[in-house]
Amino acid sequence: MEKIRQSVTKKFGILTAGGDCPGLNAAIRGVCRAAYDRYGMSIVGIAAGYRGLIDENWRPLRPQDVYGILTRGGTILGSSREKPFKDSGSDDDIAGEKVAAIKENYKKLGLDCLVVLGGNGTNTTGYLLSKEGLNIVGLPKTIDNDIEGTDRTFGFHSALSIGTEAIDRLHSTAQSHNRIMVIELMGHKAGWLALYAGVAGGGDIILIPEIPYDIKAIGRHLQERSSEGKGFSIVVVAEGALSKAEARMDKKDRKKYRLETVTPSIGYRVAREIEAETGMETRATVLGYMQRGGIPSASDRVLATSLGTAAVELLAKGEYGRMVALTGNEIGSVDLSVPANKVKTVPENHYMIDTAISVGTCMGV
Ligand code: F6P
Repeated sequence: MEKIRQSVTKKFGILTAGGDCPGLNAAIRGVCRAAYDRYGMSIVGIAAGYRGLIDENWRPLRPQDVYGILTRGGTILGSSREKPFKDSGSDDDIAGEKVAAIKENYKKLGLDCLVVLGGNGTNTTGYLLSKEGLNIVGLPKTIDNDIEGTDRTFGFHSALSIGTEAIDRLHSTAQSHNRIMVIELMGHKAGWLALYAGVAGGGDIILIPEIPYDIKAIGRHLQERSSEGKGFSIVVVAEGALSKAEARMDKKDRKKYRLETVTPSIGYRVAREIEAETGMETRATVLGYMQRGGIPSASDRVLATSLGTAAVELLAKGEYGRMVALTGNEIGSVDLSVPANKVKTVPENHYMIDTAISVGTCMGV
């Protein structure tokens, strides 16, 4: 048994917010084990993200509560997309009341810090709360890998494995029936998941939001493959993918256009566009929440555990207002202002785009 060390933080709350993802429980365990075993801190588990702190829904988290959760999907704390600052300053100012409730309950619980596990929204809220005087430490989780300030988020690697396996499986039907198989992957406004799974699964075409597509170029690529005797193709589409024409529209027109044409989702629209352009038989598959479910990959367990224990070192030193992060092979931290209000998209010169093109993948242009 290690001797209990000195810590600035004696008691903290922990919550998980935004979409669930593999590795959340591994991170909760990492935080809690290091906090108890190394520093003897006491922990309050807040239920359902920031909502739990508004609705007074919490419980003490004891060591036995985190036994056996390393491999479990989802989050033992529950989650929600509650954004307490949204619409702040509006006439009824419900947001103001929510923020006030969070601040009051933080005080009532006697917390020295609040540890928030989440994506862009969660860490942005964490940043805003830290400006309101609360001590916050953030952890970057999401299958989208779109958080500024960290090279990778936990959840991404597991979702990538699931997306890749799905592409592998679609190859069977594509080959047997000489069809075009479109697969839509999540990723919100970023193309990380589709790009990586597309490369890992040998996608013939990959469409990501960062590179608006031209259906004519897609049609040409499919015809070329066909004339080379390749009668089938796999098209990997990020949920945020958009056409060149849409990219030129202003925000309002694009929203309206997408409401009318993205039915039931972008993968189906792309499949319809391909059939109309080429006359080739095309089918769409949307992987949806399958990508977020189930056990975390070994890589995500390691990352989540490392980030969790690193967060506790920040708590021990009283280094608040920061998000733990992976940079290269090092675990460190960045100021919460770094991820706040940002989405990390795939840069146009990212090596993975060139990798995809080098192996003959069409990026839709
Ligand atoms: O951020 C994770 C994510 O799974 C995105 O890829 C997707 O756009 C979104 O969440 C779906 O959110 P919800 O769970 O609210 O439907």
